[in-house]
Amino acid sequence: MTVAQQVEDVRARELGWSPVEIEELCESVGHAPSVHNSRPWTLTLHHRTAVLRENPAPVMDHDPQGRDQRISCGAALMNLVLAVRDLGWTAQVEFGATSGLVSAAVTAGEPSGPSPREAGWAEAIPKRHSHRAPFSRRPVPELFREKILDAAADPRGGGRWVGSSAEAAEVARILSRSANAFHADAGYTRELTGWATPEGRRLQHESGDLRGLAAVGLTARTTHLPDEHVLARLLREESVLLIGTRGDRPVDHVRAGQAVERAWLEATSAGLSVSMMTQPLHMREVRTGLAERLGTSLIPQALMRFGYPAES
Ligand SMILES: Cc1cc2nc3c(=O)[nH]c(=O)nc-3n(C[C@H](O)[C@H](O)[C@H](O)COP(=O)(O)O)c2cc1C
Repeated sequence: MTVAQQVEDVRARELGWSPVEIEELCESVGHAPSVHNSRPWTLTLHHRTAVLRENPAPVMDHDPQGRDQRISCGAALMNLVLAVRDLGWTAQVEFGATSGLVSAAVTAGEPSGPSPREAGWAEAIPKRHSHRAPFSRRPVPELFREKILDAAADPRGGGRWVGSSAEAAEVARILSRSANAFHADAGYTRELTGWATPEGRRLQHESGDLRGLAAVGLTARTTHLPDEHVLARLLREESVLLIGTRGDRPVDHVRAGQAVERAWLEATSAGLSVSMMTQPLHMREVRTGLAERLGTSLIPQALMRFGYPAES
């Protein structure tokens, strides 16, 4: 053993985590999705406990309340919990907050192997990624939709598929209105390219510089008015999941991130591609409008889109 390895070994024993365990914890957290890939968290290891802290928020124009930052932390927390479970320990989570910043301590307790579902999610962590190309029209099988919904569910929140034609039309109306508010936001436009559709490509080609929802084919630019009909059809034909929580405190945003990540990992295991969007939901009227129209008591936190990549 080299001196460096010996030092690492002593440090690992002090922490109560083996070097292999430390690697899995750090790697799993590092693979979590985050807004603008900012990874806005800090992971510190203590004796048998791993603490994930939200970083002091760099105020992002598009996210002044830090909602996206905390959803990102929730996704990282989910991966941390899954890593502890995958390593064969019970994982107890305790939330805290300092100066308005959320933290979560995950303690490895008794030996306890992961359930098949947890093991599957843990295996999907390094395979998960954001889909930023068009989706095909192939529908997501009902069995997968059920499993994704089940993965997102927890006592403090869960998911809700955008279902009927009427719902799709209502949601399209609300998103189209919010698109106007974000029309000039170039960052939003960039992020939304993950929602690109064949329509988006065609409209982009025809009209050049597109912004906001238009950039992804969800609206047309010609009149500067969102194309509600295109959006309604996409929402009707595709598998779009609304992730919501019972409360709207900072810790609820973290929980939303956990639900997002479980749904995403479940879909990844099933061979599906996923993209997500949160920006319209930063507006209170969009959140309340969506909840009202979908008849849900959940507070909308994220929209996720599931499907198969289009043939290129
Ligand atoms: C809270 C949150 C909001 C996000 N919003 C968007 C979005 O609006 N559009 C998009 O394409 N990706 C969005 N993403 C995905 C991130 O851009 C993505 O996770 C990150 O760039 C890392 O890439 P990966 O998911 O392929 O690992 C979001 C992710 C999180 C956690």
